[in-house]
Amino acid sequence: MDDWARFLDAMRQSRYFEAHDCLEPRWRDTGSPRVQVAIWFAVLLLHQTRGNVVGTVRVQTKLRHRLRELAAPQTLQGVAAGVPVNGPAVCRALAGAGNWVGGWAGRATRTAAGVMRTKGAEDVANEPGSRGLLGGRRALVLGVANKRSLAWGIAQAFAREGAELALSYRRDRVREHLGQWVQDWPTPPLLVPCDVMDDASVAEMGDTLAREWGGLDAVVHSIAHAQPGDLAGRFVDTSREGWQVATETSAYSLALVARACLPLWEVRGGGSLLAMSYIGADRVVPNYNVMGVAKAALEASVRYLASDLGPSQVRVNAISAGPVKTLAATGVQGFSSLLHQIADRSPLQSGITIDDVGNAAVFLASDWARRITGQVLFVDAGYHVTGV
Ligand SMILES: NC(=O)c1ccc[n+]([C@@H]2O[C@H](COP(=O)([O-])OP(=O)(O)OC[C@H]3O[C@@H](n4cnc5c(N)ncnc54)[C@H](OP(=O)(O)O)[C@@H]3O)[C@@H](O)[C@H]2O)c1
Repeated sequence: MDDWARFLDAMRQSRYFEAHDCLEPRWRDTGSPRVQVAIWFAVLLLHQTRGNVVGTVRVQTKLRHRLRELAAPQTLQGVAAGVPVNGPAVCRALAGAGNWVGGWAGRATRTAAGVMRTKGAEDVANEPGSRGLLGGRRALVLGVANKRSLAWGIAQAFAREGAELALSYRRDRVREHLGQWVQDWPTPPLLVPCDVMDDASVAEMGDTLAREWGGLDAVVHSIAHAQPGDLAGRFVDTSREGWQVATETSAYSLALVARACLPLWEVRGGGSLLAMSYIGADRVVPNYNVMGVAKAALEASVRYLASDLGPSQVRVNAISAGPVKTLAATGVQGFSSLLHQIADRSPLQSGITIDDVGNAAVFLASDWARRITGQVLFVDAGYHVTGV
């Protein structure tokens, strides 16, 4: 057992002196303020169990101030503010905050033998009961319209790698289809309604997931929409309304979803958010027009969100996918010629599939990508590196 696991074990068994001693050498080595606050939690509980009111209040005040300064997960801030401090809740919050305390602390988990240990990337695949890179993870995937959707490729890859899923839908007809497609999955996904053009609907989705799951590890945003007339002809003719519809649905919604999911990630000590982009964000693609502008806004949002959510150990990335014949894509005039171009001109001389996108998404949501955030990963057979 490493020192974080020993610390958690001692905390759970109310051996606060011992817990303090487990982390003290690491704090002296690193000077990390996050390790220091973990130690203060042990001291706080020690004072409280001994009935030392003055000591309890002093440490609690210091802790609350420091946790705010360090933008600690809400769960930690919440339990530190409790009166009287609730020992089991502190232990739960600290166990979930391993990633926030430090990469070395990882995620604490309890093995079959009941021993606390930390979970690294290699452990995820080997964990008893785990079926793959996302074993034990809970993921929300937004944007399955049908079996051609990129989101469907991602949902299938996530399920294959052991994730438990929630799928969102906007229209009742899609809900009926989804229900049929997933009925023989070993763990049937939650189906939650969500229209990203409606703030209340997004907030309600967050509430439903909080009620059903408590916390969340991965979120995939695979949503875009533009008025049909705006994906043909000249960009210069885009209407104000067309601009608003495209950027609000396809880019602003990423921040909206992130806001609703933040408390759920924090319960789990961090997580990941993934968006779907296209090369039209950087280069002029005929007829892509206002959607190219929306994708540029989406990619910039990925970077700003990566910065905002990083302290909560939430990683934010995008996949820039090559063209795939989906419902949304066929709305772009002349789309089928793009499909041929990528196969003819990409270094790998092939198109891409929703499975390719799904596999890349698994990587970005997994612990193997645990130090990757704010990135746009091209899954386009290398097309983006070509000149002419
Ligand atoms: N296909 C490609 O070539 C390609 C390439 C690069 C990037 N992408 C991106 O990949 C993502 C997924 O698109 P796709 O190609 O897989 O097409 P798709 O199957 O048509 O998926 C688009 C999804 O967006 C949803 N959506 C639209 N407006 C919404 C709203 N207000 N609230 C909630 N959901 C809404 C749609 O739901 P409804 O069915 O209810 O409308 C649909 O599920 C998009 O961001 C797209 O730009 C696609």
